[in-house]
Amino acid sequence: MATATPEADQTPPSSANGPLTAATRNSSDYTAQPGPELTVVVPTLNERANVPLLVERLAEALDGIDWEVVFVDDNSKDGTMQVVRELAGANRRVRGIHRIFRRGLSGACLEGMLSSSAPIVAVMDADLQHDETCLSEMFRLIRNGDTDLVVATRYDTGGSATEGFGDVRARGSKLAIQLAKSLLKVDMSDPMSGFFMLRHEVVDAVAPRLSQQGFKILLDIVASSRAPLRIKEIPYRFRQRLHGESKLDATVVLEYLGLLVAKLSGDLVSTRFLAFGMTGSAGVIVHLAVLRLLLLNGLSFTPAQTGAMLTAMTFNYTVNNALTYRDRRRTGWRFFTGLAMFAGLCSFGLAAGVGISSVFYQSEPRWWLAGLAGAAVGSIWNYVTNSAITWRAR
Ligand code: GDD
Ligand code: MN
Repeated sequence: MATATPEADQTPPSSANGPLTAATRNSSDYTAQPGPELTVVVPTLNERANVPLLVERLAEALDGIDWEVVFVDDNSKDGTMQVVRELAGANRRVRGIHRIFRRGLSGACLEGMLSSSAPIVAVMDADLQHDETCLSEMFRLIRNGDTDLVVATRYDTGGSATEGFGDVRARGSKLAIQLAKSLLKVDMSDPMSGFFMLRHEVVDAVAPRLSQQGFKILLDIVASSRAPLRIKEIPYRFRQRLHGESKLDATVVLEYLGLLVAKLSGDLVSTRFLAFGMTGSAGVIVHLAVLRLLLLNGLSFTPAQTGAMLTAMTFNYTVNNALTYRDRRRTGWRFFTGLAMFAGLCSFGLAAGVGISSVFYQSEPRWWLAGLAGAAVGSIWNYVTNSAITWRAR
């Protein structure tokens, strides 16, 4: 493909003169090189050593298909993006998207798929755990026309996860699949797979409803699709990671549970709101513990309560900054300006909550109901305003 330029064309390769060259080419050159039939999207976070190997393997596995690979990198510290750019400079089949101020596997995959002009897109990991030799068969199944989505599965007959997983991971993975199957009625043997291929139009249809966080983009796509998808599965052996380490941690597991709740509630309760709520509940415990401690140490109620509130607020802010909004995390001096914003917004939330519960109590004098109403209004206010202001998307 890269050599398809007609010989009579005197225009130098675009890399020689930079972007201006493209504008000076005549239009027939554009039609001479149609876009690829298949885009393979590969999210990366510190995968420098794996990237060149993967490109080599893709070239071998996709021989005969007009493919491209898009690496979507969340500003890796190990220079993954530089490696991608070097490869892309030498080979048109390689592209890269460099994201800054953002984190999240699902969001990265989505962005890569949306950047593609190919009718068929695939997602796979960079770490060579996924067997790239499955890709050509997956492509054939979709191009035949009677399949919308092909999932490479570790659990169907013939597939295997034993090599790439430790014992705990293997059991956790099975449990997650059971939950997805029974709660969301998703009938796939491996809805957690990070290795799949689908028609571009399926992505376009569900994109606005997808969560940006977490690892579970496939489950999210299937659960969010309004039209039933024609799904096929093909088994493969999940290999060991070659270089680097896994990014799946406790937060990823929590995000997964959050996704289940979000989808069960028809997207009413978002993963982020759940995390915000759980942090707030932990904050109440911190508040009471500090209050008790200060009172035991001889402080009178008002200063003890003030100290407890300040501690709980700083706790809530720090945890939300680290987990709930990890993709928009405030660092350096922005950490402290964020704390001030958080404190300001939450004090409005507090006032609103107290106001609402007092009014409520006058017409319906049940303390717990009035208390809950106030707490609900306060938390929703805190969540909505802090999402929009303190941790706004930049
Ligand atoms: N851009 C970007 N941003 N990429 C990320 C991020 C992120 O925040 N987190 C992880 N990645 C990339 C990694 O660099 C790797 O290419 C791929 O996403 C998968 O990450 P791993 O850290 O290797 O995940 P894993 O092997 O533990 O998990 C595998 O199994 C899960 C199911 O159990 C993956 O296949 C997951 O997709 C799958 O859900
Ligand atoms: Mn992996």
